[in-house]
Amino acid sequence: MKALIVGENNTIALTEMAEPHAGDGEVRVKLKAAAVNKRDYWISAGKYPGIVPGVVLGSDGAGVVDETGAGVRKTWLHKAVIINPNINWGPNPAVQGKTYTILGMPTHGTFAGYVVVKADRLQPMPTHLTFDEAAALPLAALTAYRACFFHGQVNAGMKVLVSGFGGGVAHFAFMFARAAGAAVAITSGHERNLVKAKEMGATHAFNYRQQNWIETASMQAGGFDLIIDSAGGDPFNDLIHLLNPAGKIVFYGASNGLPTHLDLYRLFWKQGTIQGSTMGNDEEFKAMVAFVEKHQITPLISRRYPFAQVENAIKEMQKAGLPGKTIVVF
Ligand SMILES: NC(=O)c1ccc[n+]([C@@H]2O[C@H](COP(=O)([O-])OP(=O)(O)OC[C@H]3O[C@@H](n4cnc5c(N)ncnc54)[C@H](OP(=O)(O)O)[C@@H]3O)[C@@H](O)[C@H]2O)c1
Repeated sequence: MKALIVGENNTIALTEMAEPHAGDGEVRVKLKAAAVNKRDYWISAGKYPGIVPGVVLGSDGAGVVDETGAGVRKTWLHKAVIINPNINWGPNPAVQGKTYTILGMPTHGTFAGYVVVKADRLQPMPTHLTFDEAAALPLAALTAYRACFFHGQVNAGMKVLVSGFGGGVAHFAFMFARAAGAAVAITSGHERNLVKAKEMGATHAFNYRQQNWIETASMQAGGFDLIIDSAGGDPFNDLIHLLNPAGKIVFYGASNGLPTHLDLYRLFWKQGTIQGSTMGNDEEFKAMVAFVEKHQITPLISRRYPFAQVENAIKEMQKAGLPGKTIVVF
């Protein structure tokens, strides 16, 4: 089978490798679609801790179980599934343990014809989704789910701001918070995304590239009880400005790096909280899939590539401007 493998010196290449087989307690999934995450980009750029050469990249996948190992229920065979990318979250639901890893580094991932995982990583695919849409869920939707509900405690009536609506994770956070009944505003640097978010029910849509957007947001929307961000950098201070008293900023990334300063004065006066968040535990993964089914949430797909062009898919995920996830189709 063809697989996207990380080589020496941070190269990635589609390479021929032997098909894997399911061992004890494992299943083999024939991939139908996989999604690209920023993680794949960071690994391909050599900017991720613990990169191991020879490993197949890819954390997200949807497909069909075509082989079961010893001790696995045969009823999984021929089932359409999505894969929980968590490996060894550990016993504490609040934080992953020391041996926690994510599918696709250091264990072989989903950018290949087949992937072998423990049977307990499988979830039946939500029936309202296509394989492409289902593949968009695992890593990004899990991250958004924890940010919204474990840390953000989103509920009806809350005022929420999701920054960078076009992002793979952010667009899920937007849809989840809305489905929970919150009033949700967004920011984006792209007109198309601002329009799309308004069509999807955003109360307000602000362009973070406009110099006076903070003043506009304060005037039009007032403050926010919860702000969900992954951009970081100096604009993080703008988010503190927009926080309601006793509000919380949940952040799960820092794509724009560290802020050169942090407005601690404003933060303590507002009795505000800054809360980091990463992925989510196995219970949250199940709850996220159930939530997606219950609310019939359909991921947005920004770009689709045939698997043969997976390297381009990773490079081009940097080209922002379209909301949602980049998908590779097998
Ligand atoms: N902790 C975790 O478990 C976890 C999981 C997934 C991702 N992450 C991290 O989270 C970040 C986003 O990941 P992703 O997969 O969603 O990436 P992505 O799909 O590439 O989205 C990134 C988005 O960031 C937005 N953005 C850029 N500059 C911004 C700014 N100044 N203010 C607000 N938004 C800005 C853009 O939104 P517009 O296009 O709308 O302008 C862009 O679409 C990455 O750093 C990633 O490594 C962490």
